[in-house]
Amino acid sequence: MAFDTIRRDIRAIRERDPAVRGVAEIWLAYPGFHAVLLHRVAHRLWKRNWRLSARVLSHFARFLTGVEIHPAAKIGCGFFIDHGTGVVIGETSRIGDNVTLYHGVTLGGIAPAIDTANQVDLKRHPTLEDGVIVGSGAQVLGPITLGRNSRVGANSVVLRDVPAGATVVGNPARVARARKGMDAKFEAYGTSAAELSDPVARVIDGLMEQVAGLQARIADLEGRREQSDDRLTPPWRDDADADPAPRPPVAKDQL
Ligand SMILES: CC(C)(COP(=O)(O)OP(=O)(O)OC[C@H]1O[C@@H](n2cnc3c(N)ncnc32)[C@H](O)[C@@H]1OP(=O)(O)O)[C@@H](O)C(=O)NCCC(=O)NCCS
Repeated sequence: MAFDTIRRDIRAIRERDPAVRGVAEIWLAYPGFHAVLLHRVAHRLWKRNWRLSARVLSHFARFLTGVEIHPAAKIGCGFFIDHGTGVVIGETSRIGDNVTLYHGVTLGGIAPAIDTANQVDLKRHPTLEDGVIVGSGAQVLGPITLGRNSRVGANSVVLRDVPAGATVVGNPARVARARKGMDAKFEAYGTSAAELSDPVARVIDGLMEQVAGLQARIADLEGRREQSDDRLTPPWRDDADADPAPRPPVAKDQL
């Protein structure tokens, strides 16, 4: 295993955990680090076709740390699982660089128990691009992609692709916001940040447009009525400037 990869995993913890005190603590007391370290060995065994040994090692890691990572899962550098317990990472998961998971996260399949034979070797698990953060207890299900630097709220259930830079929350997870200042190349799936704005705000915008349209229509009707009043006033009347006679009510169909 490349020492550089281990160094980057340790650096990731030092950068992303405010509670860490030193490297010795990481080696001795970080189950997430132990799980990733053992996974990197198990993944090598898996690639060399020593499948059973790989599975046994991953089972040992699970026993030790409470983190279950299938040895076939591909994981980039600077990966940090904080707290560890309850994390499950499925066989066809793909994880980029500098990704962070908290405890209780599942990267799982949608329905592995149904039509199981046809799902063998299919991509069933999520892909997490570089810089993704997944909050504790979140369930990320299916062969979906969480775009670069996106974030998933604690206890969310994510069933659809998440655009780069977006934060999703809830069950099912929806975009809470698309982070401003994202590089244009991060606007994955051709979806711009503006299109992802709050749906309630979009409804309010629509209502404001309708109100503006109605105001213009009322002004137009009032203008027309004043013109017709002027035409009906006889020019020889001395009291033309006096209070006008009561106006007849406007018929509903004129509005
Ligand atoms: C999702 C998250 C990253 C958003 O953080 P943030 O960028 O600071 O965003 P905000 O707190 O301003 O929240 C944005 C909106 O999402 C809502 N929201 C945030 N987290 C949520 C969650 N987990 N579930 C549902 N809604 C959530 C907020 O109420 C807010 O809604 P509003 O705009 O209607 O007020 C953060 O709340 C979170 O869940 N982080 C996970 C942390 C974690 O797992 N910690 C465990 C450490 S042991």
